[in-house]
Amino acid sequence: MSEVLRVEKLEAGYGKFHVLFGVDLTVNSGEIVVLLGPNGAGKSTLLNSIVGMADVYSGRVVLLGRDITGDPPHEVMKMGVAYVMQSPNNFGTPNIFGELTVYENLVAASAGVPREEVGRRIEEVYSIFPKLRDLRDRKAKFLSGGERQMLAIGLGLMKKPKLLMLDEPTAGLAPKLVSDFFIAIRDIRDKLGISILLVEQNARKALEIGDRAYVLVTGRVRYSGGAKSLDEAKLAELFLGG
Ligand SMILES: Nc1ncnc2c1ncn2[C@@H]1O[C@H](COP(=O)(O)OP(=O)(O)O)[C@@H](O)[C@H]1O
Ligand SMILES: [Mg+2]
Repeated sequence: MSEVLRVEKLEAGYGKFHVLFGVDLTVNSGEIVVLLGPNGAGKSTLLNSIVGMADVYSGRVVLLGRDITGDPPHEVMKMGVAYVMQSPNNFGTPNIFGELTVYENLVAASAGVPREEVGRRIEEVYSIFPKLRDLRDRKAKFLSGGERQMLAIGLGLMKKPKLLMLDEPTAGLAPKLVSDFFIAIRDIRDKLGISILLVEQNARKALEIGDRAYVLVTGRVRYSGGAKSLDEAKLAELFLGG
């Protein structure tokens, strides 16, 4: 099993504000890795550190065998990472253009993709989120929160990343839609072969589709192991610092 991402002994934060302490994490090819933890634990900061959006004080980030520690976001994206940020940040996702239709947004996200490949990529996105096909001619500014989230993920898929990082993709969605999203996330791995690092509040559902899991509490890894061996009692204990 080859390694897509390795984070080693990461110390990171924002300026003088130290958030992460000695974090080790790996994502192997074909895995869905779930990252759990209470609010403020540093989950988003960990993802930010990987793409050069937080300050790394020491430790390393290795992508596909290459040291990318501190590389700027556009470089990391070019190397095969798609990052769908947590909403409400995501609500202002700079690559969603409100005045463009769903289809036009997907085309706009295909810069650098060979022309003959673009149509096929868009079909892949529609196969994961059939709703986007129905909405193809709708301007993005008229999408609901859930539809916008599908588009945000779809845009990330257009470049066929090696690693997709999703930060609380189901936050604020209606329960029925939440289940659809978990199916879609599993399909992205199963049908498109993309490895996934998933931050979720919905621990139970996330652990059902996850292969391995990490629990982060106040910037430190408190659990790392099989997703199926984490039950709710164990999680509560970890969250509470037991
Ligand atoms: N851009 C930022 N600048 C400074 N501090 C931040 C920033 N983003 C988050 N923080 C702080 O870093 C800590 C960890 O936050 P975060 O990584 O967002 O946690 P989580 O995603 O687990 O809820 C919190 O104390 C938060 O207030
Ligand atoms: Mg967060």
